[in-house]
Amino acid sequence: MNENLSEHTRNILGLQLPTDPRWVNLAEMQLEDILTDHAYCEQKAATTCISLIQKNPDKELMVEELSPIVTEEWGHFRMVLAELKKRNLRLGKQRKDVYVNKLIDFQKKGGSPMERFLDQMLIMALIEARSCERFKRLSEGLDDAYMRGFYRKFMESEAGHYTLFITLAEHYIDKKTVRQRWAEWLEYEKELMNSQEVRGDRIH
Ligand SMILES: [Fe+2]
Ligand SMILES: [Fe+2]
Repeated sequence: MNENLSEHTRNILGLQLPTDPRWVNLAEMQLEDILTDHAYCEQKAATTCISLIQKNPDKELMVEELSPIVTEEWGHFRMVLAELKKRNLRLGKQRKDVYVNKLIDFQKKGGSPMERFLDQMLIMALIEARSCERFKRLSEGLDDAYMRGFYRKFMESEAGHYTLFITLAEHYIDKKTVRQRWAEWLEYEKELMNSQEVRGDRIH
């Protein structure tokens, strides 16, 4: 794996720890699991955006910006489903998402509604950033040229989503507060990535 590219990724996304290069090779051997896990990630992205709209009807810009993202994420889910079908694979059961659950642990439980909203935007930004980095890895490291192209499309979309959630946070909350909390999230995610076993059956 080209380390200049991982440096590049880190600079774009702010992530503190590039994915272990062994992950792509493991994922390549477990493509059915990866596709299933990926399908559920897209499904959760769509449902989380719907729930953010339901909980924050007063935040007009957010509602306006997230509405098309719901459609896009659902479209991603359908793209992954189609890929499974093409390969005569089934959408398996949803696994426990340890990565996302550990991120949820870091969300502020008390605090003001604005602090909770900030964490909701930042957790989404982080999941999009890490997903984008993982899709980038797949789009560069897989042997199959078709699959490299397949993941490249996702990588580009998720990069846009990552920036959107940060922009939305900064629209409602002052930039300094957003930046400070984002730095805390990045540090927490680094520790989380470090503590997780490298496994090829899931996106995160
Ligand atoms: Fe997506
Ligand atoms: Fe996304």
